[in-house]
Amino acid sequence: MISKFDNYQDWLKFDRDHLWHPYTSMVDPLPCYPVASAKGVHINLADGNTLIDGMSSWWSAIHGYNHPKLNQALVDQTQKMAHVMFGGFAHQPASELGSRLLDMTPDIFQYVFLADSGSISIEVALKMALQYYRSAGKLDKQKFLTVRGGYHGDPFTCMSVGDPENGQHYLFPSTISTHLFVPRPNIKFYDEWDASDISELKLSIEKNHREVAAIIIEPIVQGAGGMHFYHPEYLRQLRALCDEFDILLIFDEIATGFGRTGKLFAMDHAGITPDIFCVGKAMTGGMMTLAATITTKKVAMTISNGDVPILMHGPTFMGNPLACAVASASLDILMDSGEGATYPKGWQHNIQRIENGLQQLKEIADHPAVNDVRVLGAIGVIEMNDPTDVAKIQPEFIAEGVWVRPFGRLIYIMPQYIISENELNSLCNAIKKVILKVY
Ligand SMILES: Cc1ncc(COP(=O)(O)O)c(C=O)c1O
Repeated sequence: MISKFDNYQDWLKFDRDHLWHPYTSMVDPLPCYPVASAKGVHINLADGNTLIDGMSSWWSAIHGYNHPKLNQALVDQTQKMAHVMFGGFAHQPASELGSRLLDMTPDIFQYVFLADSGSISIEVALKMALQYYRSAGKLDKQKFLTVRGGYHGDPFTCMSVGDPENGQHYLFPSTISTHLFVPRPNIKFYDEWDASDISELKLSIEKNHREVAAIIIEPIVQGAGGMHFYHPEYLRQLRALCDEFDILLIFDEIATGFGRTGKLFAMDHAGITPDIFCVGKAMTGGMMTLAATITTKKVAMTISNGDVPILMHGPTFMGNPLACAVASASLDILMDSGEGATYPKGWQHNIQRIENGLQQLKEIADHPAVNDVRVLGAIGVIEMNDPTDVAKIQPEFIAEGVWVRPFGRLIYIMPQYIISENELNSLCNAIKKVILKVY
């Protein structure tokens, strides 16, 4: 490729003038920082600055950028084929990935749909639930029930089960379908369980179960909807209610999957399994877009024996071989331990070390501008009293040499699993310093 730009300022200007970034205006957008390269936990800016990454590119780049094994998997697969349609063709990279995913999950999970992004895997999960009840002859089950404060992606069906107040419902009131909401789980992960936490959900299920096909929820961590860590007992009781009232349970593990919360999957904190669950983000180590919707024999066989015996979904790039090969390499990196491995003492050791290191964020907990500081696994959250001013605070983080991207009232980090103790200390110190300076 011959570049059309003489220097980074040129392509940055093009970007500013023509490229839409997530949730931005094309009039006076916040500045974007020009990235030249990234390696390990470091993001190298085109202006020569280097940042320690606190975001893992939104939960995904867990093993660090430019990991040689991921790069090699990509190069190797490129030599064979970059893509081939999954309709009518099978290929080894998909089987390698599918078998790894099923090996990592309880035996009850037997069927994998390889979607091309997290949101699409959610669409597929919701569609599976509707098709399941259609096939079972329960045609009244057309609704989804969920908790407030959720986030499942930006396509319309995903939005429809996202938080109705902080989400986008108000923008598209006559287009977005209406589903059922109950208050978010309130009892925190480390607090004592109180049965009243699930009482509204129970009431709603008792009242609406005939029309509810599925309950969808992010297990343990509500991510983009507020970074809340809630009590595992909520999920155990939810599972029992779904069984009692014949409702499918869908877990959105797109952010939490693959070790982030200290367990391989967040559902493992509760020791229960859903009927369908979605993974994405970290599955490819943040290198490619790929996600999966994973389900049980009961769900798959019911759909496949129904009056419409096929799952009605098939994106062009589903099961992309490059992404599958990289994902298998990423899962191998995660699960390997011993000499020469990225996690010689096992990934759990790294998450525990990060969790311990993140505790230092609590030193800022008594600051008058801070509402709460919480840590779970490799997730550290500082919840402010008021919404952060990203335009003001982001340049301060950059000046301190760290990449932290606040949203709403949250200044939060989910570092890469490979981050060293020193790098983590630098990241946490920078955050504390900036808060003390700005507030
Ligand atoms: C919990 C959760 N579900 C779904 C999604 C959507 O995934 P994607 O952005 O890959 O479409 C996200 C993305 O942030 C997420 O955090």
